[in-house]
Amino acid sequence: MLQAVAKTLSVASTTSSASRGVLVCFRSYCKKTTTKLRVSEVLSGAELGASVKVQGWVRSVRPQKANVFLHVNDGSSLQSLQVVAGAELNDPLLTFGSAVEVTGTVKKSPHKKQPVELEAAQIHIVGECNPVDFPFKIKERHGLEYIRQFPHLRCRTNAFSSLLRIRSEAAAAIHLYFKDNGFVQINTPIITSNDCEGAGELFQVEPSSPEHVEDENFFSVPAFLSVSGQLHLEVMSGAFSRVYTFGPTFRAENSQSRRHLAEFYMVEAEVSFTKSLEDLTKVMEDMFRSATEHVLAHCVEDVDLFHKHVTPGHRDTVDAMLKKSFPTITYTEAIDILNRSSETFVFQTDWGCDLKTEHEKYLVKHCGNIPVFVTDYPYDLKPFYARDNLDHPQHTAAAVDLLVPGVGELCGGSLREERLGLLRARLEEAGLEDTYSWYLDLRRFGSVPHGGFGLGFERYLQCILGVDNIKDVIPFPRFSHSCLL
Ligand code: 4AD
Repeated sequence: MLQAVAKTLSVASTTSSASRGVLVCFRSYCKKTTTKLRVSEVLSGAELGASVKVQGWVRSVRPQKANVFLHVNDGSSLQSLQVVAGAELNDPLLTFGSAVEVTGTVKKSPHKKQPVELEAAQIHIVGECNPVDFPFKIKERHGLEYIRQFPHLRCRTNAFSSLLRIRSEAAAAIHLYFKDNGFVQINTPIITSNDCEGAGELFQVEPSSPEHVEDENFFSVPAFLSVSGQLHLEVMSGAFSRVYTFGPTFRAENSQSRRHLAEFYMVEAEVSFTKSLEDLTKVMEDMFRSATEHVLAHCVEDVDLFHKHVTPGHRDTVDAMLKKSFPTITYTEAIDILNRSSETFVFQTDWGCDLKTEHEKYLVKHCGNIPVFVTDYPYDLKPFYARDNLDHPQHTAAAVDLLVPGVGELCGGSLREERLGLLRARLEEAGLEDTYSWYLDLRRFGSVPHGGFGLGFERYLQCILGVDNIKDVIPFPRFSHSCLL
């Protein structure tokens, strides 16, 4: 330790004051053991009186006559650690955005806003930052749209670092829900040879190397980035009664809308031995509640930043969502509600039409601005795997969507057609019998009634935080005509 300090001192004494990156105040207590801590650990107050080292980025600098005050943040919490240093430790390179390593003693703070502060003995400037060129300015609250222009730097703002901590905690909460409820996690493939949704929104995968023979597929069959892990989960649901997957999915939708991405994360679950759609809606509702309550309890300050400053008033919407159980209406009832309303819709609302975002938002409002399940969609609107309700004259499939405030569709799911004859007939009709012969096998050998759903993870974050644009809830958004970094 003493050796290291002596080396630092010699660096300080041989460099000019303008270029020196190291400022040292040699104090006797440097002989004490110094523990490296994260800012959140120091702020917890457990290390009062200890000699600690903190590494992070400067969020504010306030030079005064006798002292210089810094706020240092390392991403471990929204709050920064106040560092108090003697004026002799000030340096022109100690700017907003610069990276520093501070060694000092944890003291009780005289200020009400923070429990502790760090009395600095030594400040090492690890990385300089020119505040004139840096796109974010000290003390300014930049909007999400502005910071979106800097995907390589926006994690350094309070709002986006809060978002990333919430996102990480929400993902952990979802895994926890499934673990606590006996689901086995399956890593479904990212490269696949099937188009689960049959919507043709696929990205094809081929090597970029010139040695690649033009007319031959690398995998000998056309291969794509997965639009959904559902069919692979269905394979597993023939041996495990509860499975889930949580990974990236890809859709070549030519959309720049506020709720579509070309790469997004989907949580998908599949449950065997289901009796009705209620077996699925229960899992969807329980997962939504448990993840949301977990996030609200574990990310108090980060969520507050959104609910107070970014999307004021949204907390009331979230509380209302958690208070009541989610109602269920059928698609046919939904169409009736839309046709009875005085609202003018752009898109048609005849029975058999797909529900558009405007319809979904209206239905959510109509049901009290809380999440609502819509079940039993027209058979012809749903992919081949959806279970036939065998009803007449309005032919429907046992499919369900969960619509939520501000976003519209959050989850899509269905019971799966487990009856071999019906499934084979539908695949034959679509000319897909050979492609999906393995899927028919699942119905030949020990088939059971089963079903599942997928939840768009980014839309979930939009829903609980009230964020309008999906591009603001994913670290690196990919959408048509944009793949930055
Ligand atoms: O409704 P979808 O297409 O359902 C499926 O893919 C099923 N195979 C899932 C299953 O049953 N295992 O997609 C599920 C959810 C949607 O409700 C939506 O929240 C989200 O995925 N989603 C998107 N999110 C962002 N950008 C896009 N382009 C999305 N497309 C769907």
